Amino acid sequence: TTSPGSAAASEARTFTTIGIVGLGTMGAGIAEVFARNGYAVVGVEKDEDALGRGRQYLEHSTTRAVKREKMTDLEQSELLGRITFTTELADVAGADLVIEAVVESLETKKDLFRQLDGIVGADTILATNTSSLSVTEISTANSRPGRVIGVHFFNPAPVQQLVEVVRTVVTEQQVLDDVTALMTGLGKTPVVCGDKAGFIANTLLFGYLNHAVSMYEGRYASREDIDAAMRFGCGYPMGPLALLDLIGLDTAYEILETMYRQGRDRLHAPSPILKQMVTAGWLGRKTGRGFYTYE
Ligand code: CAA
Repeated sequence: TTSPGSAAASEARTFTTIGIVGLGTMGAGIAEVFARNGYAVVGVEKDEDALGRGRQYLEHSTTRAVKREKMTDLEQSELLGRITFTTELADVAGADLVIEAVVESLETKKDLFRQLDGIVGADTILATNTSSLSVTEISTANSRPGRVIGVHFFNPAPVQQLVEVVRTVVTEQQVLDDVTALMTGLGKTPVVCGDKAGFIANTLLFGYLNHAVSMYEGRYASREDIDAAMRFGCGYPMGPLALLDLIGLDTAYEILETMYRQGRDRLHAPSPILKQMVTAGWLGRKTGRGFYTYE
């Protein structure tokens, strides 16, 4: 006799090799999650400098996990050993799943999906980690849009449990089922949603973050007090300005712009100071300065 559960399990697709294109904050975090779970990871960056930075993100994050006794030295070296670092996109040819986590630009992502068409096998699933661009539009750059899906991890990816799995109108049901099962196997909590800018969490989050920026900009309260109010009054692990520094002000600005352009409401019109800080190169933690200063 076969129970429904075991029937589903026997049909589930096996994933062995995962390609990650873009090893910035998110890509490196996603690579860590898969390597931690025993998958072979091919991590791609555009040049040697960016590849070096990606490697550093991974070393830094896993060293932190060792210090916090979340993994041993041996597990860390095994984890890093499962990742192939490369500047050749063609090296993802053998991957069962390719996740892109490159810059939040529609043209860059479409161009990448166009290139992947000639590289990966017919059965490979292509995923985007976009937080606000249209997965449907990205998928049209590829000849197999039914095999394209959104997998939106949260920052920091090794720690946050949520993954939004985004289905477009053409995403095949089997692809959705396989990817959702894969995320559960990683110890994540997947939620499924349609292709609307911001998906679930960012739609609810970014109006709040932007509002905090305008409160700061208007000198209504200090950055420390704005953050303290939400931490100690509402139980958030971080205040909104510290969270923006973690997300990256450039990324936050792009997300707000996209949501605003889609005609939502004034809540998402990026506060002017956000743009000024981005122009000045104050992008948050990754550049050592945002709303706060970092070592
Ligand atoms: N692997 C496994 N575990 C790790 C780890 C790693 N690489 N690095 C850290 N951890 C663990 C730590 O051991 C620690 O666990 P315990 O609490 O059990 O000891 C936990 O993760 C927290 O780590 P830290 O001590 O390093 O950091 P912290 O306690 O100061 O918390 C934080 C930092 C996790 C970022 C927390 O403040 C938080 O959750 N903040 C909110 C983050 C958030 O809202 N993210 C979403 C942003 S929006 C987004 O991402 C979407 C988008 O599209 C922009």
